[in-house]
Amino acid sequence: MTQSTLFDPTPTERIAELRDTLNYHIYRYYVLDDPHVSDAEYDALFDELAALEQANPELITVDSPTQRVGGLVQDKFEKVQHVTRMLSLAKALSAEELQAWHTRTVKLLPDNTPLDFTIEPKIDGLTVVLTYEDGAFTLGATRGNGEIGEKITPNLRTLNALPQRIPVNPDSTVPVPSLLVVRGEAFFPLDKWEKFNRDLADAGERTYMNPRNAASGALRQLDSAITASRPLSAYIYDIVLADGIELPALQTQRLDLLREWGFPVPEDVRYAQSIDEILTVYDDWLELREQINYEVDGLVIKINDRPMADDLGFTGKDPRGSIAMKFPAQERTTKLLDVQVNVGRTGTLAPLANLEPVEVGGVVVRNATLHNFDEIARKDIRIGDTVVIKRAGDVIPYIIGPVESLRDGSERPIEPPSVCPTCGEPTVQPVGEVAIYCENSACPAQLVRRVEYFVGRSALDIRSFGTKTGAQLAENGLIHDIADIYYLNRADLLALDGYKEKKVDNLLAGVELSKQQSAVRVLTAIGIRFVGSTVAGLLLDEVGSIDALAQADQARLTAIEGVGPRIAASVIAWFQSEHNQNVLRKLREAGLQFAIERVEPAGAQPFEGKTFVITGTLPTLKRDAAKAIIEAAGGKVTGSVSKNTDYLLAGEKAGSKLTKAEQLGVTVVDEAWLTVNCGK
Ligand code: IVH
Repeated sequence: MTQSTLFDPTPTERIAELRDTLNYHIYRYYVLDDPHVSDAEYDALFDELAALEQANPELITVDSPTQRVGGLVQDKFEKVQHVTRMLSLAKALSAEELQAWHTRTVKLLPDNTPLDFTIEPKIDGLTVVLTYEDGAFTLGATRGNGEIGEKITPNLRTLNALPQRIPVNPDSTVPVPSLLVVRGEAFFPLDKWEKFNRDLADAGERTYMNPRNAASGALRQLDSAITASRPLSAYIYDIVLADGIELPALQTQRLDLLREWGFPVPEDVRYAQSIDEILTVYDDWLELREQINYEVDGLVIKINDRPMADDLGFTGKDPRGSIAMKFPAQERTTKLLDVQVNVGRTGTLAPLANLEPVEVGGVVVRNATLHNFDEIARKDIRIGDTVVIKRAGDVIPYIIGPVESLRDGSERPIEPPSVCPTCGEPTVQPVGEVAIYCENSACPAQLVRRVEYFVGRSALDIRSFGTKTGAQLAENGLIHDIADIYYLNRADLLALDGYKEKKVDNLLAGVELSKQQSAVRVLTAIGIRFVGSTVAGLLLDEVGSIDALAQADQARLTAIEGVGPRIAASVIAWFQSEHNQNVLRKLREAGLQFAIERVEPAGAQPFEGKTFVITGTLPTLKRDAAKAIIEAAGGKVTGSVSKNTDYLLAGEKAGSKLTKAEQLGVTVVDEAWLTVNCGK
């Protein structure tokens, strides 16, 4: 980092310093998952940079973190010729084929040449080729046909995981090539993809079939601000060209070098010396692939000695020195028995496929998402069809499409519902939207969904509210809107099936405690379309309270960064509804927090300042739930074990993270320990 001098730095110096520092913090956050500064410190530095740049616009450079939000609009993508042909990989579909590759390779080498391999995840994303000149990122392209790709530099600049300048760590002394070309894969993290699709479906928009399409859609935007709004990430795995430095020979060393420059390099790269070892790693990966947050469709086995691998040349487009070993597809065919229509909290009618149960990669699948009726029509999916389904990670499986050749004529087309399946009111499809809505604000199904959301983790987080509680209260007429949960009475609850004293006390205590939740959570919880916790934060930061927000007009709202006309219109429409005004009044009278100055929820913070990593399968808690407990107790959860990790929360089949934690002397704890110590 620049040394401070006796004199105040000039704007040029300070801007350069802030730029490097912030880019380094972005790297610590997005690549290492191990931030060095708090969000508030980061924001302060960012604001200082933004202010300096605003005063000195001529000093803004493309690699400034303020430019990561995108904004450059192109009219088309220019073509670009790659420095070398971007090859593909031959595939081995079985252990025998892998063995055959090994035998062929050995024959091409002098007798008794020792061979070792790296084993990398084969990431199912979009290949990207990045060029750095004297350390600065200057060109980003798609793979295209291998020879000619498309320039998507402004879009790739918005990916926080990718360095704008290397080395990212200002203290690093690693040599930097005058010209560097690297190759990797950009992808949509699975959990983010699922949420993104859910939001699209809620907003009545077309969803993306799979994370890969979503990544491709995000990168192929002419307006880079759209790319910036989508949470893409990337992994880099290959140095294509490095002028001006001596490249180390081994792939393991090259991955280390990429890491040192500050590129995101896949974790869990393994090393093997024999086919048997490779097959053991493969078996481990069949489980590991279920736990990671991106799609992996196989492994890439590379001869570790890169010059040796290069000398082997290629067959057709495939280098001889590497091979891809595909995982069995997590795709199966099954029968579509029926389509059930679920009413969402905003009234969207979402189709859900009921399937003949089928095992996919060790899990029995009975349901799959269909997102909306437009998609059903587009894919021409019919009841009785044999359909191809796919599952990846923890997300709900999805239908890829019907197998038309297996139809026997008995299949029935799926009609979009003309009335709400719950309340029977006629449905509405707004012009330009693909979603179909039930617009009856008294619809009991919507109420149940709204309550679920209201008490959920991202909203008021009322733990004592079980999944069935909302439905039971609504069915028994104890609630008619979300605010009614603050007016429940003990006697009514005790009269319900299965509600004993203890359960009722718990429920009421949880409801009472939620009155201390922040205004941002309250605003999130009331469920205005397009207003999730991030937008709720932006809005309240600006206007200060929910009551002030109710008064804000279109101009005031759209002046807020991150708030466009669509959000503004939705906010205004929400506050105009008489039903909603009534709900708001009841919430205010119940004593919920409406202004941001109020104190954050009180409660024990026994994990304040402690960093956790979670690995393996926990006996009862899902990862998200464990994470929420840790965070509620003041702790932080990161993705990889380092010397800064305080606790590794380990379950069954904990893999490399456990080994690493043990090596580093990190305390390993289990779920039982967590529940005892979290102070809740
Ligand atoms: S090495 C010479 N390593 O899989 C080929 N490829 O056909 C260099 N991919 O689209 C590729 N993860 O971009 C390599 N760890 C990894 C990979 C990987 C994904 C992609 C690659 C290409 C396809 C292989």
